[in-house]
Amino acid sequence: EQIEKGGYDHFMLKEIHEQPDVITDTFRGRLLPEQGIIRMAGIEDNLEKFLKADKITIAACGTSWHAALVAEYIIEEFARIPVEVEYASEFRYRNPIISENDILIAISQSGETADTLAAIKLAKERGAFVFGVCNVVGSSIARETHAGAYTHAGPEIGVASTKAFTTQITVLTLIALRLAKAKGTLSNSDYQMYLNEMGTIPAKVEEALKQNEEVLKIAQVYKDAPNCLYLGRGYNYPVALEGALKLKEISYIHAEGYPAAEMKHGPIALIDEHMPVVVVAQNQNHYDKIVSNVQEIKARNGKIIAVVTKGDTQVRDLADHVIEVPSISEALSPIITTIPLQLLSYHIAVLRNCNVDQPRNLAKSVTVE
Ligand code: G6P
Repeated sequence: EQIEKGGYDHFMLKEIHEQPDVITDTFRGRLLPEQGIIRMAGIEDNLEKFLKADKITIAACGTSWHAALVAEYIIEEFARIPVEVEYASEFRYRNPIISENDILIAISQSGETADTLAAIKLAKERGAFVFGVCNVVGSSIARETHAGAYTHAGPEIGVASTKAFTTQITVLTLIALRLAKAKGTLSNSDYQMYLNEMGTIPAKVEEALKQNEEVLKIAQVYKDAPNCLYLGRGYNYPVALEGALKLKEISYIHAEGYPAAEMKHGPIALIDEHMPVVVVAQNQNHYDKIVSNVQEIKARNGKIIAVVTKGDTQVRDLADHVIEVPSISEALSPIITTIPLQLLSYHIAVLRNCNVDQPRNLAKSVTVE
């Protein structure tokens, strides 16, 4: 097992560090910025169906559901196709509106999640076209879907999903860009800019990983916190949800993720000097709004841990701790901003002597209801 961990203390840490490589693997043969092309067989063969679709429903569970939320923002923004995101377990039991003009995208690392599989069967019965985004080759979901695109994350052993999440977002962003190209919903220059920027992601993930020591110091300060709040806006709202999920899964600290502006409708009541608040503060769209959210937390003596873009000044001045990540277009930022949150939950869990790779009560793949 030590050999399989490749010199890391835990599979989770190894998998966090594998992300630059597995994202590159997920791009291979698909992302061709010099030619201005994205090539994915599962999309090319079914392009007409995507272009004619009334809407896309995405069904998933857990971390994969968070990737679906990121995809909703990206597909709607880039390709202007309406997207609905559903917990597979809810979708399957609520007589959803889905028909032959619709597409269901099912996202699953394992390809074996019972609820996601059931959602696929239901969508197929209603005549929808079903597309899978799976990691495990030949898994039940990969076989049950009409077409799909694999993530190339390789085996993920840690129960808390890390590299599967970032490669899911990678695939879904490629899909969004391919559809945008076909629909003409992005200008040629924006499309090309995003393709070029996608190519920089592995190096930027690598750079974000260099914050490890900084993150460890923050983990040492907050390891005994009973609660933690995670906030983000726009594309980084799902990142906040995923950060909170990671922390509760492996450290057993109660954590909640919220869209930052919703804080005033409830969570703000919880903020005092004992509450650490992790803010994902990208310095692009609505930056002034996130700055004012941070001010609201500070006014109530909350402890602010901010993930900021390199060169940020305003949030930095207000925060108790900052973690810098490289700058990238906001739509592509979730893959980068999620890295320090993975490391934060990892270090806190280790400091609390938790079983990082196999947290209590959780399973890597949930094949029963
Ligand atoms: C379990 C795992 C999670 C995972 C979820 C969905 O709860 O512990 O890490 O996100 O299932 O799994 P899937 O394989 O469908 O992505």
